Amino acid sequence: MPLLEVENVVSGYGRTDVLHGVSISVERDEIVTIIGPNGAGKSTLFKTIMGYLIPSSGKILFSEEDVTQLKPNQKVEKGIAYVPQLDNTFPSLTILENLEMGAFSKDKEALQNGIKTAYDTFPILSERKNQRARTLSGGQRQMLAMSMALMTEPALLLLDEPSAGLSPKVAEEVFNQIQSLHQKGIGILIIEQDAHRSLSISDRGYVLALGQNHFDGSADKILSDDQIREAFLGG
Ligand SMILES: Nc1ncnc2c1ncn2[C@@H]1O[C@H](COP(=O)(O)OP(=O)(O)OP(=O)(O)O)[C@@H](O)[C@H]1O
Ligand SMILES: [Mg+2]
Repeated sequence: MPLLEVENVVSGYGRTDVLHGVSISVERDEIVTIIGPNGAGKSTLFKTIMGYLIPSSGKILFSEEDVTQLKPNQKVEKGIAYVPQLDNTFPSLTILENLEMGAFSKDKEALQNGIKTAYDTFPILSERKNQRARTLSGGQRQMLAMSMALMTEPALLLLDEPSAGLSPKVAEEVFNQIQSLHQKGIGILIIEQDAHRSLSISDRGYVLALGQNHFDGSADKILSDDQIREAFLGG
């Protein structure tokens, strides 16, 4: 059974629907990438999976449980974590304080373990733990945002454009870490502009356009499909 199943979800802002019946799934051992043009509804889909937006119809199942109506903090408790596209750290707080915020629902021991894991994974965070997040480079900030999400020990991690604004070298480092999180058994759903890089580490992919499923298949198939390449992967 899939870890996450989104079935025919209709969702949006106020009375305006942005998603018009979107369906996706993520298996326990998968990395899945979502691509699609600006405004397709990709970030809206993540906000809906996370509970910031409640679907007006359709269903969201997590580990076979219906979580459609749950609030974000309840989704976190179930094991879903989310790194937003924008504003994903607290700029005026230090790195350590940001990590503590990420673990707000955990006890002291889990907090200490989480901080240790974050520092082992990204040593630069340990070196700069008393610096404010606003002083970090784009890549370091992305590492902090991912570490904050991991503080809750999720089974599923949602990453909205993890390589946006990063140099190729730093982006590669971030994607290497995504792969090692996957090897630790975390299911991963990525929205990416850098479709080539993300699909190359993914099992499957979805193309969303105009708030609807446009195409889905194995990552290899998407990367080698002439029409998709022309329309969505820049030729
Ligand atoms: N807070 C909001 N209130 C109202 N409409 C919004 C809001 N956020 C996004 N929208 C609209 O919803 C639609 C989908 O936006 P969304 O951010 O989900 O697209 P996206 O696929 O993530 O695009 P991008 O690739 O630019 O990040 C757009 O038309 C956008 O203007
Ligand atoms: Mg977006």
